[in-house]
Amino acid sequence: KKERTLAMIKPDAVNKMGDILQMIRDANLILTKAKMTKLTWREAADFYTEHQTKSFFNNLVQFMTSGPVVAMELMGDEAVSVWRRLLGPTDSGVARKEAPPSLRAQFGTDGTRNAGHGSDSLASAARELEFFFPSTAGHGPANTA
Ligand code: CMP
Repeated sequence: KKERTLAMIKPDAVNKMGDILQMIRDANLILTKAKMTKLTWREAADFYTEHQTKSFFNNLVQFMTSGPVVAMELMGDEAVSVWRRLLGPTDSGVARKEAPPSLRAQFGTDGTRNAGHGSDSLASAARELEFFFPSTAGHGPANTA
């Protein structure tokens, strides 16, 4: 089934964008939108609002605002799960125990600094795509520059 998902290259892996685009291409996903942006604290906290009560929330927002990110819309067959498989396990240390080497195994560091993000469902993808690529003016980081 053809799907769209929101993929994000986190601040620790933005300089690996070339390698990551190659992985996307090799997985037969199509890059349909892309934007580099530096998230404000408020934007990062809003994007990760479902994690706001977690112990790692402040570290996560700190990391996500430490430099620019690249947000991408990817399209293709089973795009949500295909991109999450390319990412690998959330914790890059865990990811390095698995084969083949995933994006997080290659470019991440630990459970927070993990190189990339992917929507976990079609519903999340719809929300997260709207966050970065709003269809109506006035929402998300697109019109706040
Ligand atoms: P991501 O897929 O972007 O979704 C939420 C993020 O929170 C996750 O990647 C990690 O960067 C971070 N995260 C998730 N679980 C933990 C954890 N147990 N400890 C620290 N950071 C975490």
